[in-house]
Amino acid sequence: MGIDQTEYRHRRERLMEKIGNGTAIFRSAPTSVMHNDVEYVFRQDSDFFYLTGFNEAEAVAVLAPHHLEHRFILFVQPKDQEKETWTGYRFGVEVAKELFGADAVYPINELKEKLPGYLEKADRIYYHLGRDRSFNDTILSLWQGLMATYPKRGTGPIALYDSNPVLHPLRLIKSPAELELMRKATAISATAHNRARSFAQPGRYEYEIQAEIEHTFRLEGGMGPAYPSIVASGANSCILHYTENGRQMQDHELLLIDAGCSYGYYNGDITRTFPVGGKFTPEQKTIYELVLSAQLKAIAQVKPGNTYNQIHDRAVRVLVEGLLDLGLLVGEIEELIKEEKYKPFYMHRTGHWLGLDVHDAGVYKCGEEVWQTLQPGQILTVEPGIYISPYIKPVEGQPEVPEKWRGIGIRIEDDVLVTVEGNEVLTAAVPKSVTEMEL
Ligand code: GLY
Ligand code: MN
Ligand code: MN
Repeated sequence: MGIDQTEYRHRRERLMEKIGNGTAIFRSAPTSVMHNDVEYVFRQDSDFFYLTGFNEAEAVAVLAPHHLEHRFILFVQPKDQEKETWTGYRFGVEVAKELFGADAVYPINELKEKLPGYLEKADRIYYHLGRDRSFNDTILSLWQGLMATYPKRGTGPIALYDSNPVLHPLRLIKSPAELELMRKATAISATAHNRARSFAQPGRYEYEIQAEIEHTFRLEGGMGPAYPSIVASGANSCILHYTENGRQMQDHELLLIDAGCSYGYYNGDITRTFPVGGKFTPEQKTIYELVLSAQLKAIAQVKPGNTYNQIHDRAVRVLVEGLLDLGLLVGEIEELIKEEKYKPFYMHRTGHWLGLDVHDAGVYKCGEEVWQTLQPGQILTVEPGIYISPYIKPVEGQPEVPEKWRGIGIRIEDDVLVTVEGNEVLTAAVPKSVTEMEL
C-alpha cells in the first residue's frame, strides 16, 4: 500500500502544466531540536513529500518545465558513512537519482551554485515563504542576483509567486491510492477509539486511555498520533486542545477523546464523547443528542455541488435551535446566528480538509464570500460541539448558564469523503448513537 513513482511523476507533470515558464522550488522539512542535541522525530514537509515521496531532511526539489534537459531536479544530503551511523541511512546522490525519477540530482551544498541555472530562463519563481527565514533569504538573494544580471541576459524571473495556489488544489482531491491510505489511517484510528472505550472507567487516568489508543496506532502499523491525543474527562472536555491527559476520571463524568492515527503520512481525526461510568446524566444526554443531531445534519450537507460553508451553517443552525429550546440562549434565531451569540458554547468551525496534513491543504474560500464547492475526492472532518465551561460567560443580553449544565463538553467528529453520490463516512466503524455510547 502506498504511492508509486508513476503517481509522483504524474503529480509533478500536473503541477508543471500549471506553472508554464516558471520554476517551482520546494524544500524538505528541517530537522528540529527537542532539547539540547536531541531531535524531534523527523516529519517530512507535506508539499515536498506529495511531489517527491522523498523522506529525508535537508533536501530541495525544483521543477523547471521550460528547462531543456532537466525538468525535475533534486538536491539531497550526500552519502556520509560517519553521519549515517548516527542519524540513519541516506539515499545519497546516485541512488536518489535512480529511485526518485529526477533528471538531475546534486548534493545539497551545491544549491547556491546550481539553482540559478534553473531560474535564469524562468519568467517567475514559485516558492512558499516558510518559517525558516534563512532559507527564505537564500532564495531571495539568488533572485536578487538574477535580477542584477537580468539586463545583460534579457531573461529571468520577474516575480515571486506563492506555490500554494498552484499546488494545493491538486492535494485537495485525493487519488485512489491516497484514498487507500486514508482508509487505512481512519480504520486504525477507529480501532483505537473502539478499544479505548472498553478501557475507560471511573478511577482510571486519562493517560491510561491515551496509552491504549497510541499503543493501537503503532501495533496496527501506523506512524503514531497524527496530532497530540486529547483525552479530556469532566470539565477538561471544555478545553478544545487539552493534552495534559493527567486526570483521574470519575463516575458521572464525560470523557472526550479526540485522537487520530497517521499512516503513510495520511491522517485520521476522530472525536467521540461518552459517559465514563456508562450512563449519561439527563443534562449530558440532552447536549449529546443535540450535538449528534447537528453532526448528522451537517454530514447530510456533504455532497458535490454544495458549498463548504453549508456544512458549518447547518450545524450552527441546529445547535442554536437546541440552545434556544433549552433556554441557554434567548432571542430570535436569525439574529443569534448573525451576531454569533452562540460562540461561548461553540467557538470553532465545523471541520477542515483532511489528508497529508491534519488541517490539510486547500482553500475554504475562493474569493470574498465565494465558498469552495464540494467535489468528489475531497475529504473533510465534520466536528460540531457544545462546550459549557464551568467559567462560561454568555454574551450581553443572554442568560447566565445554570450550574447543572456547567462542565459538559461534547464534540463528535468524523472523517467524510465526498463521493459522486454524496458522501461516505470513513470513520463509521466508531459508534456514536446515544444507546451505543451508554453501556
Ligand atoms: N484534533 C484536531 C482537530 O480536530 O482539528
Ligand atoms: Mn478535526
Ligand atoms: Mn480532532
